[in-house]
Amino acid sequence: MQTITTVAELRRALASDRRAGKRVGFVPTMGYLHDGHLTLVEASRLQSDVTVVSVFVNPTQFGPNEDLSTYPRDFARDEKLCRDANVDIVFAPDAREVYPGRFETFIEPGELAKPLCGAFRPGHFRGVATVVCKLFNMVQPDIAFFGQKDFQQCAVVRHMAVDLNLPIEIVTVPTVREADGLAMSSRNRYLSEEERRRALAISRGLFAAVDSFRAGEREVEKLVSLAKGHLDEVDRLQYVELVDQDTLKAAESPLCRPAAMCAAAYVGSTRLIDNVILA
Ligand code: PAF
Repeated sequence: MQTITTVAELRRALASDRRAGKRVGFVPTMGYLHDGHLTLVEASRLQSDVTVVSVFVNPTQFGPNEDLSTYPRDFARDEKLCRDANVDIVFAPDAREVYPGRFETFIEPGELAKPLCGAFRPGHFRGVATVVCKLFNMVQPDIAFFGQKDFQQCAVVRHMAVDLNLPIEIVTVPTVREADGLAMSSRNRYLSEEERRRALAISRGLFAAVDSFRAGEREVEKLVSLAKGHLDEVDRLQYVELVDQDTLKAAESPLCRPAAMCAAAYVGSTRLIDNVILA
């Protein structure tokens, strides 16, 4: 496994693979890897010949009062996990490599970036789309892998790839959960034992909606209030919404198209997101 920190070096390292017609798979991450990321790596190894994992905590997707400075980082551990998972290249640029001085060109996503997290994190998806587009240009993958936990991010990136004619297949990989249902996230490490217990209310609420949907419920309001009913243990609920899976617009009753039930909530000072698909 090679660890590379510059774009020039990355291009050199991938040149011979590209000449040999190898398929390059890409897993973008902000590090502090967990089993969710390793599942993306596994998917990439199955569907490509060379797997590149980027580790970059992207400043432009954090708001002024968010956790950029405290975001968990442990690069030595990330490198070891990647080596053990047979990653070929870890690309770990620093902020100056990604955003050199005078950087001023951003990708502005449209309607998909407005609801849900977009309403609570102004500029977040602009930062995500910009860095993902830049990383795509740096790595030039054939296929890229994203976790479904970041449902709206997947939608924004997929749409960007179509809008900008990026020749990259975007694959969404199902959310990996702890045995008790908590969606894996690097931010889970912020949770105290007591907060972690209360954080389970989020997946419990979403699963209750799935059960009810499977039992035949198609009324949006009922499904949403069922999920909400489980969420009184969180400290600050930002949203629980049922949205059309493709447009992310509010789903309509009776549900007859695939929809995503999405939630975001603070437990203590940690913001957690999760979602399930009702289809
Ligand atoms: O999902 C993440 O970890 C980040 O948003 C991503 C896609 C690596 C862009 O910084």
